[in-house]
Amino acid sequence: MITALDHIAVAVPDLEKAIQRFVEDFGLTLGGTEDVHEAKTTAAFIPLPPTNIELVYPLNGEGPVATYLEKKGGGLHHLCFRSDNIEEDVARLREKGYQFLADAPTPGAHGSKVIFIHPRSCDGVLIEINQPAEEH
Ligand code: CO
Repeated sequence: MITALDHIAVAVPDLEKAIQRFVEDFGLTLGGTEDVHEAKTTAAFIPLPPTNIELVYPLNGEGPVATYLEKKGGGLHHLCFRSDNIEEDVARLREKGYQFLADAPTPGAHGSKVIFIHPRSCDGVLIEINQPAEEH
């Protein structure tokens, strides 16, 4: 079941500059940054309860965010819905004909499991579904 808007992601060509904008100009707090090797991105999280803003930047200058930046120079990149059972949500949506960018969820930031729905299944919007890691 989808339970929350986990984050809204913005692809940025200059991560330090973007962090500075959100922190110094908008007065928000940087929650942390993380290299997500599976997605070839560096992600900076800015909590803004009840959701977060994720700034995404290509790790090592390659990957899907690098391609996006080459085409568009930056912009709104994806929405992420939080799920309490990602396998169940993926199976339910596949049954309805939704196409995904991967066969199964892969490791995401903070030990979560993530998968992306193809934008063609959602009127051009890239939607991520994530299931946070179990609390320890
Ligand atoms: Co995301």
